[in-house]
Order: sequence, then structure tokens, then C-alpha cells
Amino acid sequence: MKQVKAPIKSIIEVMPETYLIWLDAPEIATSASPGQFVMVRCGDETILPRPVSIHRVEGDRIVLLVNVVGKGTLWLSQQKKGGILDIFGPLGNGFSINPDAKNLLLVAGGIGIAPLYFLAETAITSGKKVTLINGARSGECLLPVALPQKLYDGGLLPASINVVNATDDGSEGFKGLATDLIPHYLAGADQVFACGPAAMYRAMTKMPELKNRPVQVSMEIMMGCGVGVCYGCTIETKHGLKQVCKDGPVFEMGFILKDSP
Ligand SMILES: Cc1cc2nc3c(=O)[nH]c(=O)nc-3n(C[C@H](O)[C@H](O)[C@H](O)COP(=O)(O)OP(=O)(O)OC[C@H]3O[C@@H](n4cnc5c(N)ncnc54)[C@H](O)[C@@H]3O)c2cc1C
Ligand code: FES
Repeated sequence: MKQVKAPIKSIIEVMPETYLIWLDAPEIATSASPGQFVMVRCGDETILPRPVSIHRVEGDRIVLLVNVVGKGTLWLSQQKKGGILDIFGPLGNGFSINPDAKNLLLVAGGIGIAPLYFLAETAITSGKKVTLINGARSGECLLPVALPQKLYDGGLLPASINVVNATDDGSEGFKGLATDLIPHYLAGADQVFACGPAAMYRAMTKMPELKNRPVQVSMEIMMGCGVGVCYGCTIETKHGLKQVCKDGPVFEMGFILKDSP
């Protein structure tokens, strides 16, 4: 784990109230793996730093995808190119891709897309096929495939990924929840990875189709220290109390959710 003063190379609003932030952080970029996160100090706005997933790694840079929900994330969204962010990481265990898996199904709910880009890109680089079910409130809240070239010359989602969109209001893709689509894309999926709100995981635990399947979920929970000291992120699991920052944030779904299949 490294403590870094990371220069902001770029910051762009890519969806309403959601910002991509490119940071020079070679010490973190070289050791990060998908599903890990960094703790970000938000100026004087919050006493405690905030956990943010490593959305992607580009050489010496890490990229964060930040959705504004409160004072810390608002402060982050107001930072400018050339500013410095005080961060530490990479933290947590991250996702685990089975070397024998050929097809991966990723399920994102809202800002849950954040750690799944890095996972998708890593999986594709190692020859896996990836399908992403991407769910959001409306079309404008879905991470765009690309931005105008003057803003960013590259894709915002890996080119070879099969993206299936779902929106609550039907303004883009399937009208309904990301979880409604899971049964239709399970055939051939060797592993399932999900990141989203607790309601999404509750729906997944009730799905008979996911029974006895390897499903990894990333838990979003309020954190204090991020490094296993404060016990503020403790959750009850089938196997006793666990700390999301240290034992997670990624867990087997059947491990953490008591009524899971
Ligand atoms: C491992 C991990 C990775 C995360 N990755 C990302 C990411 O990549 N991008 C991103 O935008 N957010 C991510 N989050 C959520 C992010 O940490 C919170 O949104 C942030 O801490 C809120 O801080 P704030 O000061 O803006 O909001 P606050 O002012 O502290 O709170 C505003 C509202 O948000 C709720 N809230 C605060 N923290 C959380 C949380 N951790 N989970 C759910 N609700 C929360 C509060 O209950 C309150 O209703 C992640 C969380 C975890 C645990
Ligand atoms: S956030 Fe402090 S122990 Fe996990």
C-alpha cells in the first residue's frame, strides 16, 4: 500500500454528476488489480478519506469514476487539472478470475460499473470473452462507449466487450433491471461478477439460476480507515464477522449473504 500525492491529469464529467479523473500514480498503477480501491482525502470537507474503486489503469496513471452523492465526492468533482489528490492504495482483495474460465458475465448497477471496467479489460487481455450487463436509471446514466475525440481519444469501454444495456425507464436498451437480464446471459458463463447496490444483490440471492454458480460481488459500504484498523466496515457473514476493507470488498455471494443460494 502506497501513500501518494497524485497530480490530476484530467477530469471530465462523463454522465450527470459523474466524473472521470485521471491521476498520475505510478506506485499504485503498477501494483493494482481489478476490484481494488484507493482511499482519497477530500480536502477539509471530510475528516475521513473516501473509498473509490480503481476504474482503469493506463500506464503510470489510474482512473477513477466518481459519482457525486455527498460532500466528499462533491469536493472531488470540483478539483481541476493540475491539482493534487492525496490518496493511498491499492487496497482490498480484488476480483479473482479463474484461469480456466472462458466466458465471464459482469453485472453493473449504476456506479457499480466503476471496478468492472478494469476487470473486463484484464479478462479480455488474457483471452476471455466478456459480456457486461450494464444497468442504470436512464440512458444518460450509462457510461458512454466513447467521448468526443477532443475530450478523450479512446474508448470508455473495452472494444471487444459485449455490452447489454438495461435502463429503468427504457430510454436505452432493455426496459427493466439489470438483474432481469441475468438468466438470459448465463448460458456458457463460467463466472459471474457483480457490483451494484445492496438491492441488486438481494435480487441476485433469490435467483435459482445462480444457485451453485461462482458469483463474486463487490460490497459498497461506508468506510472509516480503509486499512482494517477502525472496524467501521464490519459485516456479518455466514462465516462470522468480516471487514470489507481488508477481507473484501470482493466476496463470494454465497459467503456473505445469509439467504443466498
Ligand atoms: C470499496 C468501495 C469502492 C467504491 N468505489 C466507488 C467508485 O468507484 N465511485 C464512486 O462514485 N463511489 C464509490 N464508492 C462509494 C463512495 O465511497 C461513496 O459514495 C463516498 O464515500 C460518499 O462520500 P461523500 O462524502 O460524497 O458522501 P457522504 O456525505 O459521506 O454521504 C452522502 C450519502 O451517501 C451515502 N454513502 C456514503 N458512503 C457510502 C458508501 N460507501 N456506499 C454507499 N453509500 C454511501 C451516505 O449514507 C449518504 O446518504 C465505493 C465504496 C466502496 C466501499
Ligand atoms: S474501514 Fe476501518 S476497518 Fe475497514
